[in-house]
Amino acid sequence: MGILDGKTALVTGGGRGIGKGIAVELAKEGADVIIADIDLDNAENTAIELRELGRKVTVVEMDITQEASVASAVSSALGEHNQINILVNNAGIMGDHVLGDEVQLKSWDKCFEVNLRGIWVVSRAIVGHFKEIGGGKIVNIASVAGRHGSGKHADYSASKAGAISVTQSLANELGPFNVNVNAVCPGVLWTAMWRQLEGMYSRDASEENVNQRKIFEGLIKDRCALNREQTPEDVGMLVAFLVSERSRNITGQAINVDGGMFMN
Ligand SMILES: NC(=O)c1ccc[n+]([C@@H]2O[C@H](COP(=O)([O-])OP(=O)(O)OC[C@H]3O[C@@H](n4cnc5c(N)ncnc54)[C@H](O)[C@@H]3O)[C@@H](O)[C@H]2O)c1
Repeated sequence: MGILDGKTALVTGGGRGIGKGIAVELAKEGADVIIADIDLDNAENTAIELRELGRKVTVVEMDITQEASVASAVSSALGEHNQINILVNNAGIMGDHVLGDEVQLKSWDKCFEVNLRGIWVVSRAIVGHFKEIGGGKIVNIASVAGRHGSGKHADYSASKAGAISVTQSLANELGPFNVNVNAVCPGVLWTAMWRQLEGMYSRDASEENVNQRKIFEGLIKDRCALNREQTPEDVGMLVAFLVSERSRNITGQAINVDGGMFMN
């Protein structure tokens, strides 16, 4: 018996990285999973792994910046699974690694379009269904970068602070409809996103340099009280709790999974 038996979850950006870790943990707890991603190859590969856990897994192509793409993906997901009980807004991108006054408008807008507006667009496409079926759960993947401004990541940090704020607004509005809305703030995880950051921080994007993980390891050593990196599964385990009935009276919260990097 899993804590999510009989539930169906839609995970945006579930094809790789943290989204994949979340999808795996939800499936382990008994949920069927819809992987909604812009990258279908990764999504299909992740689906094959998840089906080995005995769950029903569907892949839908979704670009969270496009309303029509989101609407058609949600409708096709609902055609396959009779209901969706859980939405995890995980898909996100990194912005430029430059000083705040050098951020290009294009980078700023893209960060907000994916990391903040995307949460609202996908949530808006699903909350009507949650109301019809008597409730639901939403978890938004923000970041510890949204807890404070961070050097050379003004666009990313601001978009993630916005993700925490929209979590609180949605929690207020949807509470009366039995919908819990929470945010999770991951710390440092070695995914494709951090590989990109490693190259940016060290100004050397060669595979040889990136694979040494010098900046990443330094950050963990200097900043994480537990002195260890976080994993997609760590995030997935918290998400599984937050979308289960065990957390039925928790809403509007943002919880860090960061090895003790920031203590609220
Ligand atoms: N890696 C970290 O250290 C870290 C730390 C804090 C927060 N986060 C956040 O966690 C989330 C996942 O990050 P990750 O490290 O797994 O990144 P990743 O780049 O490995 O994966 C992102 C996923 O989102 C998908 N995606 C991107 N744009 C999309 C769009 N427009 N529509 C649909 N899908 C889209 C990608 O195809 C990919 O599958 C992001 O929101 C990120 O900001 C990551």
